[in-house]
Amino acid sequence: MNFKEIIENIYENVKQVDNKGDLASYIPELANVKPDNFGVYFSTLDHNHFGIGDYSEKFSIQSIAKVLSLSLAYHLLGEKIWERVGVEPSGTAFNSLVQLEADKGIPRNPFINAGAIVVADILISHLQNPKEEFLAFVRSISNDSEIDYSSEISKSEKEVGFRNIALCNLIKSFGNIKNDPSDVLDFYFDLCSLEMNCKQLSELFLFLANDGCSLEKNKQLISLSQSKRINALMQTCGFYDESGEFAFKVGLPGKSGVGGGIVAIHPKHYTIAVYSPRLNVKGNSYKGMKFLEEFTTKTKLSIF
Ligand code: DON
Repeated sequence: MNFKEIIENIYENVKQVDNKGDLASYIPELANVKPDNFGVYFSTLDHNHFGIGDYSEKFSIQSIAKVLSLSLAYHLLGEKIWERVGVEPSGTAFNSLVQLEADKGIPRNPFINAGAIVVADILISHLQNPKEEFLAFVRSISNDSEIDYSSEISKSEKEVGFRNIALCNLIKSFGNIKNDPSDVLDFYFDLCSLEMNCKQLSELFLFLANDGCSLEKNKQLISLSQSKRINALMQTCGFYDESGEFAFKVGLPGKSGVGGGIVAIHPKHYTIAVYSPRLNVKGNSYKGMKFLEEFTTKTKLSIF
């Protein structure tokens, strides 16, 4: 299949589409990007790579980092992790507080903010220097020492993170946060501030297409079963209350972030990263969703 030609055609079509949606402005620094940036990068396990548009423009991966923090916490804790966080789609917004009260502080899944805050707490309990060790884990996956946090983005989010502060305190009141909430939030905001471009993002996520094994160093980072389960969670919970829509229209496990990035995975085959910072009302990249829908339609390759 000529992936390059397919990607070029879809890119040109989607580029012309009226770019609906708005930049995420609830984190002030996130609005500090060119709204019409649009990049795509595609990587296969057999070393077929192709990028188009603004694929080397760095952006804040935000919630996409929740897949990486879950990977490390799952590797460290094993199945015990599911005593602290669920595996059900939430059907609510990524930053919603409503279910937590009824669910007694056990977040529905690790990809909503509440779940990722619990995962951050788990990492703090297991790592000596969570911020450094998490970054080292991320860098080691793709052997890319350029990947880093953005202090501007994390500072900006720390100044306005009232909803996440509320979530963390509510979970703490049920006993499902073991550390000081301010340390947990500090780490959570740092991990959300990771920056990279589409090429780095697509290459980083190849381990989830490759049964948990890093392509770069042929090292098993998480087990085969863990890799399958993280893909299953991305399929069912990766797009919050738009996860059903993404499964229906795109048909791949994936994860979005309010920075405008989306990464999607075809297990045993490829990853594709799209960046376009204008978001739809659910907080997912408007053009990113459109591009990926066209991509799995034209290639006829989805997991279904
Ligand atoms: O906690 C937040 O609100 C952000 N740091 C991350 C949210 C996010 O990326 C949700 N994505 N669609």
